[in-house]
Amino acid sequence: MPQTHDAIAVVDFGGQYAHLIATKVREHRVRADILQPEDPIDRFAGYSGVILSGSPSLSAHDEDGDYTKALYELPVPILGFCFGHQEMAKHYGGRVIHGGQEWGHTKLVLTGEHPLFAGQPQEQVVWMSHFDSVEALGAGFREGGYTVADDGAIHHNAVILDDQRRRYGFQFHPEVDDTQFGDQMIRNFVLEICGCRPSWTMARYKDEQIAAIRQAVGDRSVFLLVSGGVDSTVAAALFGAALPAGRLRLLHVDTGLMRKNESRQVIDALSELGLGEALHFVDASQTFLRALSGVTDPETKRAIIGKTFVDVFTAQAAELGISDHLLGQGTIYPDTIESGGSKRSHTIKTHHNRVAVIEEMIAAGKVIEPLVELYKVEVRQLGEALGLSHDLVWRHPFPGPGLGVRLLCTPAPDDQTQADADSLSGEAQAIANQFGLQAQVLPVRSVGVKADIRSYEHPVMLSGTSDWQRLQAASSLIFKTVRGINRSIWCIAPPKTSAVRARAAGVTALRLDRLREADQIVTDALRRHRLYEKIWQCPTVFVPLSVGDQGEELCVVRPVLSERAMTAKAAELPPAVAEELGHQLSEVPGVGIVAIDLTSKPPGTIEWE
Ligand code: XMP
Repeated sequence: MPQTHDAIAVVDFGGQYAHLIATKVREHRVRADILQPEDPIDRFAGYSGVILSGSPSLSAHDEDGDYTKALYELPVPILGFCFGHQEMAKHYGGRVIHGGQEWGHTKLVLTGEHPLFAGQPQEQVVWMSHFDSVEALGAGFREGGYTVADDGAIHHNAVILDDQRRRYGFQFHPEVDDTQFGDQMIRNFVLEICGCRPSWTMARYKDEQIAAIRQAVGDRSVFLLVSGGVDSTVAAALFGAALPAGRLRLLHVDTGLMRKNESRQVIDALSELGLGEALHFVDASQTFLRALSGVTDPETKRAIIGKTFVDVFTAQAAELGISDHLLGQGTIYPDTIESGGSKRSHTIKTHHNRVAVIEEMIAAGKVIEPLVELYKVEVRQLGEALGLSHDLVWRHPFPGPGLGVRLLCTPAPDDQTQADADSLSGEAQAIANQFGLQAQVLPVRSVGVKADIRSYEHPVMLSGTSDWQRLQAASSLIFKTVRGINRSIWCIAPPKTSAVRARAAGVTALRLDRLREADQIVTDALRRHRLYEKIWQCPTVFVPLSVGDQGEELCVVRPVLSERAMTAKAAELPPAVAEELGHQLSEVPGVGIVAIDLTSKPPGTIEWE
């Protein structure tokens, strides 16, 4: 329960919406907590207002409203978005139908003035993503706005208002950046309608988290795995600030899946933070290699890496004489949502900190995760509030399973996969012809995401131009028209022969060493050309394809722009940099083709596995 009345409860009906809403509320320096729809009503006490999120999977037309309905009795303002809007309309006697679907940028027309829309024009652009609509309103509500489709069709009840009860609903999503005045609407609700005073700061959040850690840990100890990534380093600093010396043990495991020289850098960085005494180091690279031997399926690889981590960590804990410890984790919010961790979301990929053994430990109350509400950008702010160095806090994110998810593996090539790829190549080429490009669909698959659902499909490789716009336009049309393709890459260092075939490959020390070399070349180039901080993340990926007798790997560079990693855009590298990378990476032993990933998220994920 919040201490003050300057806080908003955000009800999470699934997907990423609730967290985005909470982030947007906090941007106005107001505390936002995420509550579950079935939380008991006392959890809602003390808040100045409630926001009901949308949902990517629930339908207000079908659902019987299995959540804490008593929240509608709360004497504070409530605002619903999309599914939340429809649920509220229904609760107060309105009618929701299947139909009236809208998607994307849509023109909203306000019917009059209202404090929620203070300072905004009568016509504006909002972002829609819904199948159901509110057809009729219950007593007390009035229409505050409608939308007009490109063909002139009017969709009523895009905004519904009941000032008496202070109940409001928007069919659109003000929390996404595509809604032109969304930030202002959220600001107006939080500050004007709910009357919250801006008082939330990251420094305050830090103090609250430190207090919460002390309370949760009691007189026990915390054992935290530090990978060297931003999240676990910030978590280490936070635990370091909360716990007395001797009650925090840090363990850095060299999994053999780290970047070049990374373990050395981790040890140095933690020592600089004054956490050197607490740190233990173990080189478990051989254990991980053995565990991964012969495994090719992405989800199985993730599960094995996660479980091996726990085995290594448990053995170390025993060796160090630590018992009744809590396992600290630097899990951030997107890790949980992509793992299907929120009850209403689909598993896109199981993040490292959500594999089965960890889930069991969470259920047994043995895990503590102080960053789990935050997005990366907030973790960085928290890192700065804790006094971490700029370079450390702004390192590119690196996934828990490390290079393990950037080293694609394939079982023995099968005729069916090759035949699928060949037939898709025909379809993709027909589209590429319109752009004067060559297209070849590769006989491997990688993970992607469409409409919050996981996909595992083929990449298409384009060549024939260096014009980024043309490559992007061809990719978009291929994604739209050819089913079974979720990724597009641009070949910058072409094979000397056109015979590209899948080949069997697993996780081996040799492949990992070569990938580390390639990754270092890419990182150095980004730093040298002052692109490192402009780009959110740049995985370097190896895909096992035999290219005539010229090489064994396709090396893909994946520079992306993103804010929260839930969506991302492929970053265009300056032509000279792309050319330089093509040249340097072709020199890495084993590399036969070099390509740049053109795919946004969705339909591709940032990592290939
Ligand atoms: P995707 O590939 O899902 O990645 O678009 C989104 C962000 O999450 C990172 N990532 C992970 N981080 N454990 C992590 O801690 C994981 O298992 C994991 N998988 C992906 C990825 O690097 C990107 O920043």
